[in-house]
Amino acid sequence: MKLIDGRAVAADIMSEVSAAARDLRSAGTDPTLAIVVPTRDEATAWYVRSIERAAARAGVTSRVENLHDPDAAEVAEVLRKLSADPSVHGVICQTPLPDGVLLEEVAAHIDPRKDVDGASPTSLGRLAAGLPTFAPATAAAVLELLHREGVALTGTRTVVVGRSTVVGKPAALLLLNEHATVTVCHSRTADLETVCAEADVLVVAVGRPHFVGAEHIKPGAVVIDVGTNPTDDGGLAGDVDPAGAEGRAASLTPVPGGVGPVTAALLLRHTVTAARG
Ligand SMILES: NC(=O)c1ccc[n+]([C@@H]2O[C@H](COP(=O)([O-])OP(=O)(O)OC[C@H]3O[C@@H](n4cnc5c(N)ncnc54)[C@H](OP(=O)(O)O)[C@@H]3O)[C@@H](O)[C@H]2O)c1
Repeated sequence: MKLIDGRAVAADIMSEVSAAARDLRSAGTDPTLAIVVPTRDEATAWYVRSIERAAARAGVTSRVENLHDPDAAEVAEVLRKLSADPSVHGVICQTPLPDGVLLEEVAAHIDPRKDVDGASPTSLGRLAAGLPTFAPATAAAVLELLHREGVALTGTRTVVVGRSTVVGKPAALLLLNEHATVTVCHSRTADLETVCAEADVLVVAVGRPHFVGAEHIKPGAVVIDVGTNPTDDGGLAGDVDPAGAEGRAASLTPVPGGVGPVTAALLLRHTVTAARG
């Protein structure tokens, strides 16, 4: 089984982003990404730090706005202010959000031109309609990895496990826009193993460590593991059991080092694109 090197893909994207950021700076624009963090969740903090580090390497300024137990009105107000700030080019709102605050609702307050994580209803609607837009970066990372692996998607049996608005649904829409035959699974899918085992391309975004094992994987499948589950030793585990995938999958994205670094690189690519106007 081949391990797909997300870090190498991210490094390629990052060199494009660095060049674009340099050009923007010499033209007097300081490309800036604002990250709203409404939670103290450990996995989120890890992810935000990785974006900040990547931004610093690429010459993109990052600005983190930590909110403590905000309500929906507070999150919306911060997103509105950042969207109206001409020195900010990209605005993202991290999940999970506090109980009662829905990303689908608060993200409506992000200007779609600055919505570099494709979270607003406008961006998602455009994605569903097949119109140009910023797609959610994690979903876009899934496609970027499949493209760079040379996986032919047209007509391919593809299964996405997970239907969140941030990952599963947009990944399914992007795959559909590329003419894959897409099945979306979730917690109420009957006989999940059998459905997954029919997939030539299996995308897993469930949020349960090592949830997918050998029995879910068709021999020769390409498996993209989106899961990032914190482990007791301070590391990260994917949603796919690598030992189960070994000997069945043709290729697998490792965790860490697969989808995560590509996601961060694409957020920055989207930010320099937004800064170009
Ligand atoms: N690498 C990255 O850049 C990146 C970015 C974002 C997220 N992530 C990671 O990706 C994972 C998923 O994130 P998310 O935000 O999409 O999570 P989420 O909002 O919790 O959604 C999880 C999805 O998995 C489904 N699910 C849960 N248990 C299941 C089961 N037993 N069988 C089948 N489906 C099941 C849920 O189904 P229902 O809809 O029926 O509840 C839901 O659709 C997490 O580990 C997260 O940390 C990684």
